[in-house]
Amino acid sequence: MPCVATHAKPSEDSVSVQSQPTQKSAGAPAQSSPAAFKVWINGQLYEKPDAKISVYDHGLLYGDGVFEGLRSYGGKVFRLNEHLDRLWNSAKAIALEIPLSREQIARAMDETLKANGLADGYIRLIVTRGAGTLGLDPARTSDPQVIIITDLIAVYPAELYDAGLEIVTASTLRNHPAALNPRIKSLNYLNNILAKIECLQAGCMEALMLNHKGEVAECTADNIFLVRNGVITTPPTDAGVLEGITRDAVIELARESGLEVRIEPITRHDVYIADECFLTGTAVEVIAVVKVDSRKIGSGTPGPIARDLKDKFHKLARS
Ligand SMILES: Cc1ncc(COP(=O)(O)O)c(C=O)c1O
Repeated sequence: MPCVATHAKPSEDSVSVQSQPTQKSAGAPAQSSPAAFKVWINGQLYEKPDAKISVYDHGLLYGDGVFEGLRSYGGKVFRLNEHLDRLWNSAKAIALEIPLSREQIARAMDETLKANGLADGYIRLIVTRGAGTLGLDPARTSDPQVIIITDLIAVYPAELYDAGLEIVTASTLRNHPAALNPRIKSLNYLNNILAKIECLQAGCMEALMLNHKGEVAECTADNIFLVRNGVITTPPTDAGVLEGITRDAVIELARESGLEVRIEPITRHDVYIADECFLTGTAVEVIAVVKVDSRKIGSGTPGPIARDLKDKFHKLARS
């Protein structure tokens, strides 16, 4: 039970809503209290208790649908086009037609953020297959539902961004790309949830997931990076990982600062002997990992490259 001794027991829901200062643009409405945040469904804003879709929706019955997690910084959605590209690619992969245009979805996200007075917030954009019969057949569904939730998010306690995270390897392997490709950001996250349950049971807040070849893939909702002798490595997408948008931004930032970034398979041994390790994701942004499977990574504190890229990412997100 490696993590228990070092970190407080994670809260029941590690993605807890917490209030955080919001940078308002001039004339923007005040931020609503999270309980009063409105939810956008198919063109209309609803109060939270009224934000409902059919229990026959295949998104609920089978995890049949796709989603994106985005962030707004100072009223501007970070890498909006990249998120929309990925949403459309995920939908194409599952043969789901998104009933709105990119422009309509972008406007709807903006409208929802504004309705909730959120300049800095997390956006969950969901497209379900729609309500249908109790069989799997997607052809027997109607009307994909488009849902936009905007909220505050804090995946890990703030102090872990300074102290670094301890993680454990899950025995649950990341989905085989030939079965359900992890490049598809689908509503079926059970693979990740099984790994999350394992790490929570071990007292950790995040799990390292290996692929079917035993190589390192990613964590349950983040991409992973290593630093060794000043060179950064991260697994390629064919290792069975989501093509993270934060991952791409961090790769660009690292290369701009003159660092070598190699996109190549990594093993758990590479993780254990790394000088630094860090995770990236829209929700978590950039966070250092200081212990993996009880092995201290580097000095056991967040390393200089992880800290620098975290700062650079925050600057980029607000630029
Ligand atoms: C499985 C998985 N990997 C990686 C990421 C990070 O991707 P991004 O940086 O686009 O949020 C996420 C988050 O969406 C994820 O769910």
